[in-house]
Amino acid sequence: MTFLEIEGIDSLQGEVQISGAKNASLPLIASTILAKNEVKMSNVPNVADIKTLISLLENLGAKTHFENNIALLDTSTLNQTIAKYDIVRKMRASILTLGPLLSRFGHCEVSLPGGCAIGQRPIDLHLSALEKMSANIEIKQGYVVASGKLKGAEILFDKITVTGSENIIMAAALAKGKTKLLNVAKEPEVVQLCEVLADAGLDIKGIGSDELEIYGTGGELLNFKEFSVIPDRIEAGTYLCAGAITNSQIKLKKVNPEHLGAVLAKLHQMGFQTLIENDNITLLPAKKIEPIEILTSEYPGFPTDMQAQFMALALKANGTSIIDERLFENRFMHVSELLRMGADIKLNGHIATIVGGKELNAADVMATDLRASSALILAALVAKGTSRVHRIYHLDRGYENLEDKFKALGAKITRLEE
Ligand code: UD1
Repeated sequence: MTFLEIEGIDSLQGEVQISGAKNASLPLIASTILAKNEVKMSNVPNVADIKTLISLLENLGAKTHFENNIALLDTSTLNQTIAKYDIVRKMRASILTLGPLLSRFGHCEVSLPGGCAIGQRPIDLHLSALEKMSANIEIKQGYVVASGKLKGAEILFDKITVTGSENIIMAAALAKGKTKLLNVAKEPEVVQLCEVLADAGLDIKGIGSDELEIYGTGGELLNFKEFSVIPDRIEAGTYLCAGAITNSQIKLKKVNPEHLGAVLAKLHQMGFQTLIENDNITLLPAKKIEPIEILTSEYPGFPTDMQAQFMALALKANGTSIIDERLFENRFMHVSELLRMGADIKLNGHIATIVGGKELNAADVMATDLRASSALILAALVAKGTSRVHRIYHLDRGYENLEDKFKALGAKITRLEE
């Protein structure tokens, strides 16, 4: 098994170019099921989750080509509507094929994703919305078996769900009549999906707000234009935390600072300054790293996908920080690993109390999910000695060229085989 060896260092310096957003690419790739033409997407990150979804499309009969961050996807040859367990179990986001497959073919079977490291993560809101659009949904042998010609409907999401919103937007695209969606997720990834579909000819109103009106084409496929995926705000946030935890000056290139509002605000509260010029952000060291209070919430609030990295950063603050994780019930799996490095963190339900300023010592630690793993890398950067981070396949799901990017910033990080 592959692991990363990371030496503790004093500081980082240099520049890092941010990749395209994994979580924007996934729904966009699924949305090509709605296309009548071959779709060209650029700035697609070359990470495991993207390859998994592309191979799922291939499995359904699509022609695909993915090289140099450009994906060419032709779904005109689709001849299968079963998304098999073998692929879905590798990545929950495969559920994003449910809406577009059902909308285009009137039937499909998509394996249920099951639980995952960060909690139960049900898809009940995806399913009840499809039922409101006249779909018949049954669960058979671990699969969602969906059928029916979709009709527009008014749907109020009980909770804000990112992939749920994306799934139903794609379902509504080819449905018959108007779908009104209320309490829709406003994450930049959802917004880009809407923009790309609008560019492809879909009549969609309210883009960027929590209320959308989608006038379905009644089955007619869409004519996609070429597009470039937005920058990955979570990857950007992770590198900002790497600069911050080592209290260094680093520069991020090809980011969208507007998507990083909550993250930058927290860094400023901790005493860091940032310089923004177009799509570059330079992080400047803090005179004193202040403790922080964080409550995760939906966009534009503080992203749960940045919670673990800020917990690592809080270990270097001068005082006690509080992190309240509101979205996922089991997203503190990095805590026990950080404790092994000498961190002082107490958990009480969904609230973590982090006492900063204790010296961290290198250790062997285990990655448990994508973002938790990046917190371990951050802690290892400032721990005394050489740490080893195991199970890094979690990181490979979402971070493109991770070691090269960290090395370019001066980190001492090596990928090794056990
Ligand atoms: C997406 C992101 C993930 C991020 C999360 C929250 C992708 C591929 N993944 O995940 O990185 O951490 O948003 O920003 O974009 N819920 C239900 N029923 C449902 C759906 C969701 O109860 O049918 C609950 C979830 O358990 C969770 C909350 O709603 O508590 C938000 O989940 P959701 O926004 O759906 O997360 P994902 O779309 O899976």
